[in-house]
Amino acid sequence: MASDAQLVQEALRARDHAYVPYSRFSVGAALLDAQGAIWHGCNIENAAYTPTNCAERTAFFKAVSEGSTDFVAIAVVGGAEGRPISDWCAPCGVCRQVLREFCDPGSFRVVLARSPQDMRGYLLKELLPMGFG
Ligand code: THU
Repeated sequence: MASDAQLVQEALRARDHAYVPYSRFSVGAALLDAQGAIWHGCNIENAAYTPTNCAERTAFFKAVSEGSTDFVAIAVVGGAEGRPISDWCAPCGVCRQVLREFCDPGSFRVVLARSPQDMRGYLLKELLPMGFG
């Protein structure tokens, strides 16, 4: 099972594939499932803006569409395209609701990082109190 630091490394790799011609803000996510598999996601933008998919949802939709539905943690990194990460990138409200759909709020962990050595972990219930489910 990957460590949090390894999961952050995978999120950094995923970020390299972000498609962000409009915001120039690239995000990477690495989702760890209960079998130990890691699902990568990046944000994918669109000229019409609203079809944009966040990195977290890309990772979740890849996993669920391939039959993985039991999740342990997700690492998220984001910042200006082509630059090293310098600040925390917390999941947007829509992504928090998608996490809530598939994860136990009391045990699923969201790991934010500015580097593999600089991480903060949160339970989903801390990021989405009284979430609708
Ligand atoms: N974005 C993510 O992919 N994940 C987040 O947690 C926050 C925002 C994306 C959406 C959009 O492509 C860009 O970052 C700027 O909002």
